[in-house]
Amino acid sequence: MIVVSAASGALGRLVIDRLRTRADVVAVVRDLARAPEGVRARRGDYEEPASLRAAFEGAERLLVISSPELDPARRIAHHLAAVTAAKEVGVGAIAYTSFLGAGTVATGVTEAHHATERAILDSGLPYTMLRHPYYSEAFVPQVADGELTASTGGRGLNTAFRADLAEAAANVLTGDGHLGRDYDLTGPLWSHPELARALGVAFREVPDAGPGPMAWLNAQVRAGALEQQTGDLESLLGRPAETVLQRLRA
Ligand SMILES: NC(=O)c1ccc[n+]([C@@H]2O[C@H](COP(=O)([O-])OP(=O)(O)OC[C@H]3O[C@@H](n4cnc5c(N)ncnc54)[C@H](OP(=O)(O)O)[C@@H]3O)[C@@H](O)[C@H]2O)c1
Repeated sequence: MIVVSAASGALGRLVIDRLRTRADVVAVVRDLARAPEGVRARRGDYEEPASLRAAFEGAERLLVISSPELDPARRIAHHLAAVTAAKEVGVGAIAYTSFLGAGTVATGVTEAHHATERAILDSGLPYTMLRHPYYSEAFVPQVADGELTASTGGRGLNTAFRADLAEAAANVLTGDGHLGRDYDLTGPLWSHPELARALGVAFREVPDAGPGPMAWLNAQVRAGALEQQTGDLESLLGRPAETVLQRLRA
């Protein structure tokens, strides 16, 4: 039995979709009314440890999808509650949707992921770290009046689409040889000027629209922080990951 937590979110639904014909799957959701259709569902809330123990009972494989909570302390508490419950009920193995760099960097975006990876290692449970890049969906540009604009300084992005990350997770959960592994999942490197050229439209670099999460992310891109590349995602998929150009053309 494969159990997936936070299964009612965008990533969780894609993971469930890719598992439902391949395994006995249980979707864990905090609100049963939001459970994905066509699979068994159990209630499990990261705020309620007892609900997690009941939800994870009998899992041969557990996928813990990270909490969307923004406050780092609360987010860490959510994840540690999940890892503790997994250990208490003795799940066969735990896979966790971490973030690139979280193995070594314990600040900013990776703070909660780093603490969670440590807790998983300390639990002694067999594990797989699925370190995600930023999701491509946040960066897919709009083409308006024959022009593509961005604030990314022409630097590379190693983003990947949720659908490919979900398929990679499903392959890990149903496959062999993934325990004790850390996967640094990166999509094919792309940039906004290259994308404009491929689409045959003009490109113009513009200032950030204003302060906010997207401006912060764009600054990360301009600093070259999203240019790391590995073969892990392609290798887990057994094919190249979808590019932003392919998604726009589709
Ligand atoms: N790498 C990236 O670029 C990126 C971007 C966005 C998010 N993320 C991370 O990746 C995760 C999955 O992404 P996503 O797009 O699927 O996010 P999402 O669509 O916002 O889904 C978040 C999921 O977490 C569930 N959840 C919220 N609070 C919970 C709680 N207290 N207990 C149990 N479940 C709870 C939500 O349940 P409800 O359906 O009941 O709300 C939902 O199922 C996010 O949670 C976040 O940690 C990464």
